[in-house]
Amino acid sequence: MATMDELRASVRRSFPELDVIEDDDLRDKVVEAWAFALSQTEFTAIEQIRGSGNPTTPRLKQGTQTEHLRGVARIALAMADSLEQVVGPAGINHDLLVACALCHDVGKPFEFSPRNQARWQADPAAVGYPSIRHPPYGVYVALTVGLPEAVAHTAGAHSGEGERVERSLENTIVHLADHAFWTILGRAGALTEAD
Ligand SMILES: [Fe+2]
Repeated sequence: MATMDELRASVRRSFPELDVIEDDDLRDKVVEAWAFALSQTEFTAIEQIRGSGNPTTPRLKQGTQTEHLRGVARIALAMADSLEQVVGPAGINHDLLVACALCHDVGKPFEFSPRNQARWQADPAAVGYPSIRHPPYGVYVALTVGLPEAVAHTAGAHSGEGERVERSLENTIVHLADHAFWTILGRAGALTEAD
């Protein structure tokens, strides 16, 4: 079993984009969130999590959940930078945007864990299947490690759950970047068929 320090080091290796976050406390909490999320599962690195939006949806032919999160972070930053270069400052907090992008799927280790999947499939009547999808579980992780409310909101409302609320500015960008990632790569033939 990996120690928390080993998991933190693993997360830092997975995400070079952490360097974009200038706020030391925010950067450390992004690392803490992923290390904590991994520690609750059999995973010891984000690369071990399949590169798909949901446990059975098409996955990257080449790449893992790490490439998804890095891609979404870079797409989100590129959208913000491109717009602001043309229309001027739009009030986007770039530190927060990167933290939101890197943490939007922090609930996935729990939902994608083969151990949890097998347990849920064996008896869906017991605690549900899945018991908790990655967005609400991501809220639990984000708040547990003390990440800002805006990051917890993005984890919880970047996907379908977000249709019930008004998304924040940074979450709006992450939501679109996440959608762009899967839609563009699907059209490019870079994803497998669904399981
Ligand atoms: Fe995502």
